[in-house]
Amino acid sequence: MKSVRLAITLFLLPLGAAWAQGAPHVEVYKSASCGCCGAWVAHLRQNGFEVVVHDVGDVPAARRRLGMPDRLGSCHSARLAGYAIEGHVPAADIRRLLKEKPNALGLAVPSMPPGSPGMESARPQPYDTLLVARDGSARVYASH
Ligand code: CU
Ligand code: CU
Repeated sequence: MKSVRLAITLFLLPLGAAWAQGAPHVEVYKSASCGCCGAWVAHLRQNGFEVVVHDVGDVPAARRRLGMPDRLGSCHSARLAGYAIEGHVPAADIRRLLKEKPNALGLAVPSMPPGSPGMESARPQPYDTLLVARDGSARVYASH
């Protein structure tokens, strides 16, 4: 029985790896009642990302586990491909991150700027996506 299971696992592993490459796999940590978080998840799915949603009671705790500084915090935290993604980051910026693969903690759109994906607004405001270094420092990665 054990060897059968092993054989199945070995057979499925390459499939899983191929699937992971084709559809980037995002783990999202948000509170169950967060509407704009759900809208951001929908934005990612529309852009071809595979999203697993974790409704958690303590989003800041999830953010800290990912190493994202509190001062860059937003309403949800996410992880993909070894990067932390904080807040309403556009899918295009995440795609660029996956392509360029910088040595960094990840991306953040602090707070919740009106007009960012999931925060659609009649009065959009300019905002920046930040590239966050492992030491917590940040620089502008994209301006919107
Ligand atoms: Cu939000
Ligand atoms: Cu959110």
